[in-house]
Amino acid sequence: MTIAEIKSTFDAEISKCVRLAELQELKVKYLGKSGALTALLKSIRDLPAEERPTFGAQVNELRKQMEERFASKTDELKKEEMQRRLTEEKVDISLTSCPSRGALHPVTLIENQICELMVAMGFEVLSGPEIETDYYNFQALNIPYDHPARDMQDTFYITDSILLRTQTSAMQARIMEKRKPPLKIVCPGKVFRSDSDASHSPVFHQIEGLVVDKNITLCDLKGTLEYIASHLFGEQTKVRFRPSYFPFTEPSVEVDLTCSNCGGKGCALCKETGWIELLGAGMVNPVVLENCGIDSDKYTGFAFGIGVERAAMIKYGIPDIRLFYENDQRFLKQFGK
Ligand code: PHE
Repeated sequence: MTIAEIKSTFDAEISKCVRLAELQELKVKYLGKSGALTALLKSIRDLPAEERPTFGAQVNELRKQMEERFASKTDELKKEEMQRRLTEEKVDISLTSCPSRGALHPVTLIENQICELMVAMGFEVLSGPEIETDYYNFQALNIPYDHPARDMQDTFYITDSILLRTQTSAMQARIMEKRKPPLKIVCPGKVFRSDSDASHSPVFHQIEGLVVDKNITLCDLKGTLEYIASHLFGEQTKVRFRPSYFPFTEPSVEVDLTCSNCGGKGCALCKETGWIELLGAGMVNPVVLENCGIDSDKYTGFAFGIGVERAAMIKYGIPDIRLFYENDQRFLKQFGK
């Protein structure tokens, strides 16, 4: 090949190169040991002596041009390659396909909040079995087999003497049997009743509070509940006691809060009464203390059982208890931020 031929085929080939690897092959083909230009340089010895300097200079000039062209083409291809990788390997950071972060369930949130308030007042948190004996769930709590109060709680019996606990109050006797006063405990947990509608679920959560010591009065109960209510529902929340009946407390009360929706004026949520019922409570019945070997002449106590779902429904204005268990993300996402 002549100088001109090499130049024109080289120009044509290098402009077609699109990959660095092709460029490297081309470099070997032209400038390598057995490359076209090297062959041309070798042919110098066949020329007459007077032509050699000019020919040599021309070949060297071509080599210089080719090397410069390789250098600039290498730069160009490297840039292109970078650009290609940037587009091909691009990560779209606006895509939201990664799993969203979980959050605590509203029932867990309220349960934690109440327990934290109780711990701040010096209560100790304990948990107990969901499968319970008839004895702890009923008999030790002054509810014998034939007691009509059993009708208040539709029970899931496993055998005649084993059941799914209907109330965390079952923990009262379990604890008082083992430990002696002073006692200040709180027991959160699941309870079960054969009941299901917009305000009842076969499984729900309760938090039991129990204090037994010398000189415990109904005032202590009211102060404790006022503290929880004002921290959970707002400072302006008032607490009202209404007479009620539980076999294991005497006297027994039903505890109402001023409606968080209307502030006590009356609205649909509180059925125009201004009050919403939150929990059952009372002074521990001396019979229960004696059942557990505690001297009821020396000690008194109070107990209360908060329905956790009920507290969450009041706090967040949730109309139907079943929403808690349907696991609808649109519902759950609104809590636990
Ligand atoms: N265990 C009762 C219930 O589930 C509530 C309660 C607890 C009442 C403690 C008095 C004392 O209805």
